Amino acid sequence: MRAVHCVRHGMPEDLVLAEVPDPVPSAGQLLIDVHASSLNFPDVLMIQGKYQTQPPLPFAPGSEIAGVIAAIGPGVTGWQIGERVFGGTGAGGFVEKAAVPAAAMRRMPAAMDFATASGLSTTYGTSYYALKQRAALQPGETLLVTGAGGGVGIAAVELGVAMGARVIAAASSEEKLDLARSAGATEFINYSDGKLKDKVKALIGGRGVDVIYDPVGGALFDDCMRSIAWYGRVLVIGFADGEIPKLPTNLVLLKSCQVIGVFYGAWTARDPENTAQNMREIVAMCTDGRLKPRIGARFPMERYAEALRCLMERRALGKVVLEIRAPQP
Ligand SMILES: NC(=O)c1ccc[n+]([C@@H]2O[C@H](COP(=O)([O-])OP(=O)(O)OC[C@H]3O[C@@H](n4cnc5c(N)ncnc54)[C@H](OP(=O)(O)O)[C@@H]3O)[C@@H](O)[C@H]2O)c1
Repeated sequence: MRAVHCVRHGMPEDLVLAEVPDPVPSAGQLLIDVHASSLNFPDVLMIQGKYQTQPPLPFAPGSEIAGVIAAIGPGVTGWQIGERVFGGTGAGGFVEKAAVPAAAMRRMPAAMDFATASGLSTTYGTSYYALKQRAALQPGETLLVTGAGGGVGIAAVELGVAMGARVIAAASSEEKLDLARSAGATEFINYSDGKLKDKVKALIGGRGVDVIYDPVGGALFDDCMRSIAWYGRVLVIGFADGEIPKLPTNLVLLKSCQVIGVFYGAWTARDPENTAQNMREIVAMCTDGRLKPRIGARFPMERYAEALRCLMERRALGKVVLEIRAPQP
C-alpha cells in the first residue's frame, strides 16, 4: 500500500510517498481501507518534531480517518467487514490501509461522505470537550473564539451557537469571519491590526467575555486575559501562532477568572466513556443539522505537501482533507 511517510523531521516537502507492506490487524484492532484523512495543526508540528507526543520515525502523519472495515483482528466483536467508520488515530492516517484500535472507531452516519466524517473527531471532539466539560458553557453566556476560521475554531463557533451562547468570532481576515458568520456567529472582530482587546471592549463594554476559546496563543493571549469577565473562563487550546504566551497572574487575581487547560487527546485516553458520549452527541448534532462541518479544501493523497502548507501558511478555512481514495460520485 501507499503511505505518506515522515522519515526525518522537517517540512511537508521532506515527506515521501512510500510503498510499504499492508498492515495486519492485531488483537483489538480493525483494518481500515482509508478513504479520507483530515488535517490538524498537530500534524504540522509532528512532522517537524515539535509536538508534545512524537511517534518514532518513520511514521505517517494524519490523526483522523474515515473509511471501510477491511478485516477484523482477534478478539474484536461488534463490527462487520464493509461497515463505514471514522475516528482518531493519533498519527498514521495518511495511508491507504490503517490497523487501528477498534475502540477508537465509530460508525459513520448513513448520509455522510468520507471527507466530512474524517474531520469530526479532533476538531469537534476538542471543542466540545473544551466548551462542555472544561468551561461548562451556559446558554446566554458570551463566547469569544480566536482563530475562528480554522479547524478547531470554526467547530467552537458552531458548538457555541448550538449550546445557546452569544458567539463573537475573531480572526485575521474577512474571509475567515465570513465562514464564522455562516456557522452562526453574530459578532465579528478582525484582529489583523492587533487590536483585539479594544474591539472586544467596543462590542460588549467593560464587563468582559464569559468564556474565551484560544487556539492561537502568542500576543493574542494577553488581549484574551484583558478581555475576560469577572469569574470568566479562558480556555488554553493551542499555540498556532508559534509562541507560547506567559500568563499574567495578576489578571487572574483581578478578574477572579479561571485559566483552563484543554488536552483532548489525553482526556480521550483517560475517559473513553465520556469521549464516546460526546462523539454520539456530535454525530446527533450533525444528523439533525445543528452542525454542518465545513471543508475548505480537498487534495488527492499525492498532494499531501500542499494540504499541509494550507495549515502552516495560515490559509486553512475550516477543514483541509486528504482524499486517500477518489470520492465516489
Ligand atoms: N488542546 C487540544 O487538545 C488541541 C486539539 C487539537 C488542536 N489543538 C491546537 O489548536 C490549534 C489550532 O489547530 P487547528 O487544527 O484548528 O489549526 P488551523 O485550522 O490551522 O487553525 C489555526 C488558526 O490559528 C491562527 N493562526 C495564527 N497564527 C498562525 C500561524 N502562524 N500559523 C497558522 N495559524 C495561525 C489562524 O487563524 P487567524 O489567521 O484567524 O489568526 C488559523 O486559522 C493548534 O495549536 C493545535 O495544536 C489543540
